[in-house]
This record gives sequence, C-alpha cells and structure tokens, in this order.
Amino acid sequence: MESNDFFVIKALEDGVNVIGLTRGTDTRFHHSEKLDENEVMIAQFTEHTSAVKVRGKAVIQTSHGEMYND
Ligand code: TRP
Repeated sequence: MESNDFFVIKALEDGVNVIGLTRGTDTRFHHSEKLDENEVMIAQFTEHTSAVKVRGKAVIQTSHGEMYND
C-alpha cells in the first residue's frame, strides 16, 4: 500500500504550480495549487494522490532527496 510520505515544496518565484495526480488506473489531475514566491507547501502522497507534478522554480524535498527545479 502507499507509504503516505511527506514532501515539501518551496516556491522560488510567483505562480509555481503543484498538481496532484490520482492514484489507480485512471491517472488524471485532481488538484492544482498555486504558490507564490517563498510560500511553502507540505503535503503527503495519499490514497487519492500517487504522483505530483511541479511546474516552476522551486526547491522540492522528498525522502529521496532534495532537488532544485529551474
Ligand atoms: N485531497 C487530496 C488527497 O488527500 C489532497 C492532497 C494530498 C494533495 N496530497 C496532495 C493535492 C498533493 C495535491 C498535491 O490526496
């Protein structure tokens, strides 16, 4: 089953999009969150969310490490 890992996204510019994609056979967007510069989102992978797409300049921390998205 899913591990419910947390991840952190810090926006480095205005208008960073954090998009949640559904778990299961049907993979689709179910939520889009817009972050402005210096806003931080702390979220989890859940029963409903198996993937996340980040669009924009941001620092992303997961259990697999930290990355900088340009
Ligand atoms: N209702 C969503 C869920 O429980 C909320 C959510 C959790 C979410 N993690 C997310 C939305 C990551 C976007 C990105 O799955």
